[in-house]
Amino acid sequence: MSLIDKFKINKKKNYPKNNLRHVAIIMDGNGRWAKNRGKLRIEGHKAGIKPVIKSIKFAILNKIEVLTLFAFSSENKIRPSLEVISLMDLFLNVLNTQIGNLKLNNVRLRIIGDRNFFSKSLRDKINESESLTSKNSGLTLNIAANYGGRWDIIQAIKKIVIKVQLGILNPSNINDKTVSKLLCMSDLPSVDLVIRTGREYRISNFLIWQIAYSELYFADVFWPDFNNHIFKSAIDFFVYRKRRFGGL
Ligand code: IPE
Ligand code: IPE
Ligand code: MG
Repeated sequence: MSLIDKFKINKKKNYPKNNLRHVAIIMDGNGRWAKNRGKLRIEGHKAGIKPVIKSIKFAILNKIEVLTLFAFSSENKIRPSLEVISLMDLFLNVLNTQIGNLKLNNVRLRIIGDRNFFSKSLRDKINESESLTSKNSGLTLNIAANYGGRWDIIQAIKKIVIKVQLGILNPSNINDKTVSKLLCMSDLPSVDLVIRTGREYRISNFLIWQIAYSELYFADVFWPDFNNHIFKSAIDFFVYRKRRFGGL
């Protein structure tokens, strides 16, 4: 038996496999993928739809309970308006074409982020898509659009301040739970694994509070090249991590 085989067996003996319930993905690198092919950035965003659909199928097949995809950050609004408008059009288009499939596959769709920025037609479509799938009991799919981790924390702070002003919350009673339950996805299992593509090694104001103890996996590809094999590698990486949460 080779040393590597022995190591694999030992790993399985000593480490209970982690249960993977919630995966979050930072889908980065569409623009550079397109540039490398002499194409416009928007072509990269369009090419990024296929791995989104594949990842949803992969999550369903592998019984992952929650998949959260970072599609557009609060800060992405500072990009040239043509790119921002094209991305909003693409979002609306994908909702129109995919909502039937999501419903059929028992997926519950939710959009997290500040919706005030979206056009009325996009907001209406988001509401319609969410209510159409709200009773589904399979995968919960969160799309983070115009989402920022700081925005999420600020909207929670505003609610806390109001409660304090109304006298229904004593500031000395504010704790971890007070904040956690006001953040996006507070009703869902906590994020176990964050995957980032795009050859950047940062969080870029994605979930901040919610990933305090998540495992982080950086995939060396641009998002349009993400596939099931890479998703599987990220899970293999995750399942044998020793998660200590500050303990020993
Ligand atoms: C990720 O790809 C998608 C969005 C942020 C909307 P990018 O558009 O950031 O692509 P790169 O990082 O410039 O290659
Ligand atoms: C993060 O990618 C946002 C999304 C993938 C939606 P960015 O391209 O915005 O991140 P930075 O600017 O490289 O940090
Ligand atoms: Mg980027």
